[in-house]
Amino acid sequence: MAQYSSHLLCLLLSIISILSFGQTEATTIASLVPKSLYDSMFIHKDNTACPANGFYTYESFVEATRRFPRFGSVGSLETRRREVAAFLAQISHETTGGWPTAPDGPYAWGLCFKEEVNPQSNYCDSSNTEWPCFSNKTYQGRGPIQLSWNYNYGPAGRALGFDGLRNPETVSNNSVIAFQTALWFWMTEQSPKPSCHDVMIGRYRPTTADLAANRTGGFGLTTNIINGGLECGIPGDGRVNDRIGYFQRYAGLFNVATGPNLDCEKQRPFA
Ligand SMILES: *[C@@H]1O[C@H](CO)[C@@H](O)[C@H](O)[C@H]1NC(C)=O
Ligand SMILES: *[C@@H]1O[C@H](CO)[C@@H](O)[C@H](O)[C@H]1NC(C)=O
Ligand SMILES: *[C@@H]1O[C@H](CO)[C@@H](O)[C@H](O)[C@H]1NC(C)=O
Repeated sequence: MAQYSSHLLCLLLSIISILSFGQTEATTIASLVPKSLYDSMFIHKDNTACPANGFYTYESFVEATRRFPRFGSVGSLETRRREVAAFLAQISHETTGGWPTAPDGPYAWGLCFKEEVNPQSNYCDSSNTEWPCFSNKTYQGRGPIQLSWNYNYGPAGRALGFDGLRNPETVSNNSVIAFQTALWFWMTEQSPKPSCHDVMIGRYRPTTADLAANRTGGFGLTTNIINGGLECGIPGDGRVNDRIGYFQRYAGLFNVATGPNLDCEKQRPFA
């Protein structure tokens, strides 16, 4: 009897360890995105012409994902690959150094910048009293998703364990935190917007208002979440097409279909 239970216990423990191993996020990401694939996506990120050269390492990317275990780990292998391809495409557009006739094409230049060049303001929304700006700090785009505005630096910092309002430069000085701010934005629902993660894993359910605004699921909706106020509802917007171009290239490298609704030109932005 004792022996029988210890065998049973042993069996249970191995099942549990197999299950939890399967869920190990770092393993998931490193197997979904091996270093060779990362390098073939971001061919020119360490080019000396890129201000971010040396910053966005593979190791920092993988380490950052450990904080977000659900990223790239929900759904079928196809869904997981598509989500990661969409995320990497969006951060590539945000940091692109590409141009139409660039070597290896316009979509081989993601992760070239870590900080917005020539910001037109300090990105302080002073009407936001929950996340007040420091007058000597600026909240322009930084990191893979080009985190902007005090109302994003504040909550991102709180979620990730740094003072985003006092030390916004952390996002361009610490590459693990930089990737984490992008993942934080991707994974976090900011009402009335769904999270990009929920959109790409098919968990998003449009409301009646969303349907009336053509905000159906797909890559185009993640563009709407990220910068729809400036880019969506406009026919043939070049920025939107750059995002799509990156996604199509990466989906090809991941050998996965892009899915429907790549564009947001027919979508109304969120309020
Ligand atoms: C920036 O402002 C904060 C709050 O007013 C202050 O604590 C800090 O010393 C200032 N930093 C510099 C470099 O002036
Ligand atoms: C941190 O970032 C700021 C702004 O990008 C830069 O001026 C500063 O030199 C950086 N500090 C370190 C220690 O890298
Ligand atoms: C929704 O899309 C249709 C065509 O696909 C378009 O005619 C309509 O104007 C769009 N609605 C909005 C609110 O943009």
